[in-house]
Amino acid sequence: MKTRIINVDDLEEAILFLKVGTPIAFPTETVYGLGALAHNAEAIKKIFTVKGRPSDNPLIVHVATIEQAAALSQNLSASFFSLAKKFWPGPLTLVVERNPSLPASLSGGLPTIAIRMPSHPIALTLIEKTGPIAAPSANLSGKPSPTTALHVLEDLDGRIPLIIDGGECQLGIESTVVSLLQTSPVLLRPGTITKEEIEAHLGQIVLDPHQNTKILSPGMKYRHYAPKAKVSLIYEEEKLQGEYILSPNPKDAMRLLNEKTLYAEFRRADRYGAKEIVIDCTRPISQALMNRLEKAAQ
Ligand code: TXA
Ligand code: MG
Repeated sequence: MKTRIINVDDLEEAILFLKVGTPIAFPTETVYGLGALAHNAEAIKKIFTVKGRPSDNPLIVHVATIEQAAALSQNLSASFFSLAKKFWPGPLTLVVERNPSLPASLSGGLPTIAIRMPSHPIALTLIEKTGPIAAPSANLSGKPSPTTALHVLEDLDGRIPLIIDGGECQLGIESTVVSLLQTSPVLLRPGTITKEEIEAHLGQIVLDPHQNTKILSPGMKYRHYAPKAKVSLIYEEEKLQGEYILSPNPKDAMRLLNEKTLYAEFRRADRYGAKEIVIDCTRPISQALMNRLEKAAQ
């Protein structure tokens, strides 16, 4: 299969592929997604094959309206509506009870479903024309998420027919994931919308998942976001040496580290053939960025 990168004013073809059950890649404000119609079980299966994703790692379903979210789920709580009204469209994914009529493969067999309303106009247009779209990040399983169309091509060339080129993603790391299945909300994956913002809005504490209890989010057990190079987190100024250094405050030959540049730098380091990526942790780093760095360093 030949993979083509198409322009944003050319969405008709992408819509056709989605409608016939063929996954395609599209931009969101966080990272590029590999999308298929949420109601099409065959198309969902193809997403797992294309990415080489373990079948127990559930997908996020993207919606354009709160009504669509309600139809995908059941027993939505007041917290759900409150968070959706405040943060949607935007980089917040909410895990709720799944409508049992949806393909179980979507949620890796779980009785729950992760839903988000992206703010990217191309993503919203696709959903408006076709209905809810299930989409994991458009990378091969285990690789850093793609933040440009070329990153998607690097991983999925020959595996999908189309990539919609929306330029560089505005945020660069994946959405915040919050589970609303317990009495207290649980932060499953930190992102640019912070735990503190969610707590302030709900007037309620948001819990961190307990590493030693049941895995709440299957995605958490896999090594993720990882370049080929070894990633070393360095906390002491004197030990900050190497051929490829990322720093929130770069000097000399260092490169800039922030949420938007992280994955592009990981991919660049691999192309460059770096053996080790040294991360300057002597300065403050956001919870979301630290989460990705720790997983990459595992
Ligand atoms: O920003 C994003 O969220 C991007 C864009 C494309 O929207 N998507 C993304 O999808 O990062 P993915 O598949 O790479 O990550 C989804 C995460 C995984 O950690 C998965 O385990 C978790 O969400 N998740 C999905 N459904 C879940 C569920 N029902 N219960 C718990 N965790 C779930
Ligand atoms: Mg992913």
